[in-house]
Amino acid sequence: MPLFLPHFNIQKFNTLAVPAVADYFVSVQNDEELREALAFAKTEKLPLLILGGGSNIVLRADFPGLVIHVKTRGLDIVAENDEHVWLKVEAGENWHQLVEYTLDNGYYGLENLSLIPGSVGAAPIQNIGAYGVELKDVFAELAALNIQSGLMVTFTKESCQFGYRESIFKQALKDQYVITSVTLKLNKTPAVSLQYPALRTALANIPPREISPGQVSAAVIAIRQSKLPDPQTIPNVGSFFKNPVIPKGQFEVLRMQFPQLVSYPVDNLYIKLAAGWLIDQAGWRGRGIDGVRVHQDQALVLTNPDKREGKVILQLADRIIASVQEMFGVTLEMEPRVYP
Ligand code: FAD
Ligand code: EPU
Repeated sequence: MPLFLPHFNIQKFNTLAVPAVADYFVSVQNDEELREALAFAKTEKLPLLILGGGSNIVLRADFPGLVIHVKTRGLDIVAENDEHVWLKVEAGENWHQLVEYTLDNGYYGLENLSLIPGSVGAAPIQNIGAYGVELKDVFAELAALNIQSGLMVTFTKESCQFGYRESIFKQALKDQYVITSVTLKLNKTPAVSLQYPALRTALANIPPREISPGQVSAAVIAIRQSKLPDPQTIPNVGSFFKNPVIPKGQFEVLRMQFPQLVSYPVDNLYIKLAAGWLIDQAGWRGRGIDGVRVHQDQALVLTNPDKREGKVILQLADRIIASVQEMFGVTLEMEPRVYP
């Protein structure tokens, strides 16, 4: 039976370093302990928070329930052919350590996703993405435990309904499953993805055909370190808002007023705007309220250097949303999930 810790401070378990207390906290090392933790919550009628690295949550207040910290470990090659390996990874493994492991072993595809904090089990929740690659591009399937029925279910790529920072686990199946493992389909032959302009620029001194996945990973790490604060020193959750996706017609009107508007094509109907640019233009970069700040090097990142309560962070977020709405008529949506 895993150890249930009552009245547990989870400040060290969320990268915004918000001080908050959970009624109960339990760390689970395997699927059996996970089932026992879920049974405890059911018997005690406790709300659940399934926790990985805590790098994409905002704790609004103390958590009146059970926090299950998923710490399951292990990884296995479950299939292989001349071109690909299928790697099954337990949910509690650290994402970036996985990226390093794959590069060290000659399995390619994760290099653009280097240095994203958090666990493997959380990666499908918002279909993590960076520098031109999303989880869905390397995803084969996942296993997840249904919290109500206790049944283990396999989800294919299609059934996960991945989108930009989206999956079925944030929509129709929100709070219904614990992801226990993720299987990735990786390449044995290097094939690098260099669509992201900042990445191409960073590697401009190497002939494109000679660029290795290791060099892509190193470049991604360098770009990230130049603008994203390390949560160990300056608490944050990465991008605080999603980049808004708006209809092309609205975009054309906006661009007449703001010719410098930073945008990315989505499809024939929609355009994605750089939320960091909008927040920056609204005058928030480097500013803040009550010890919570908008990061000087990347306005899409809110930081919590004074380790203030979640409600203060959410107050700043509301003010930013209102400013951007007023100036551009665009509604920002938060990326991290708010608890309770
Ligand atoms: P947590 O914060 O612990 O949880 C996030 C959500 O997932 C919660 O709702 C939680 O209940 C749920 N969850 C976690 N584990 C499971 C599980 N096993 N089963 C079911 N539900 C689960 N994200 C990007 O996409 N791209 C980036 O480039 C990026 N850069 C970042 C940079 C920094 C500095 C930081 C701090 C964050 C960044 N993020 C980025 C956000 C974050 O790293 C990802 O969302 C990551 O996947 C969160 O993992 P986690 O284990 O910390 O999740
Ligand atoms: N910009 C500004 N001012 C700022 C910040 C950004 O003008 O203060 C402009 C930049 O000049 C650039 C554009 O906005 O032209 C985009 O900035 P950046 O390249 O830093 O990327 P982003 O759109 O802000 C997204 C993801 C990141 C991901 C990077 C790289 C979202 C919400 N964020 O950021 O993901 O790492 O692209 O792919 O999609 C996360 O989700 O937590 C995260 C960090």
